[in-house]
Amino acid sequence: MALLRIAEENRLLKEVSEIRGHLAQHGIWYESWPVEGRIGPSATSEEILTAYEPEIEALKRRGGYVTADVIDVTADIPGLQAMLDKFNKEHTHAEDEVRFIVRGHGIFHIHPPTGPVFSIEVSAGDLINVPAGTPHWFDLCADRNIRAIRLFREKAGWSPLYTGSDIATRFEPLCFGPSHLPPGTRVTPSLPVLPA
Ligand SMILES: [Fe+2]
Repeated sequence: MALLRIAEENRLLKEVSEIRGHLAQHGIWYESWPVEGRIGPSATSEEILTAYEPEIEALKRRGGYVTADVIDVTADIPGLQAMLDKFNKEHTHAEDEVRFIVRGHGIFHIHPPTGPVFSIEVSAGDLINVPAGTPHWFDLCADRNIRAIRLFREKAGWSPLYTGSDIATRFEPLCFGPSHLPPGTRVTPSLPVLPA
């Protein structure tokens, strides 16, 4: 279940309807799908794509996507930090960033053209679509663990296009659940690090 925080307004949205409503203002889709029992912990990428074929096909029709794959990230992957560093700076994409989370957690920060930056933590069962051209950045939670279905119109369009802004450095990419935080971490996620 996702959590959406608007740090500047000190607001935390927990209800699906509230989250969906806020995201819809910015053209972002959000769905919460049941995942319990759909796949086993050792499911292959092919098994995941098969298990979620109805949802994937519906998304393809809705957004014009033509391919889907599965990304699997764990803390022990060699070169993980270098990979994360590609996406934790403000950027856009030439096509939508569509993710359906089947395991783990991650946190998007969205920088809309109007209104304050907000973060949305996604976890298993959450579908999010960050539309092409939307400035955003992404971090994993402290457990550095995520598995997600991705959909594309064409994969080449999904390279990060950096805006050159350092705005991401002003927001802590901490997830909300205490179990996700390293010992001693303050539970004040996504508050600006620097004075406004
Ligand atoms: Fe991105």
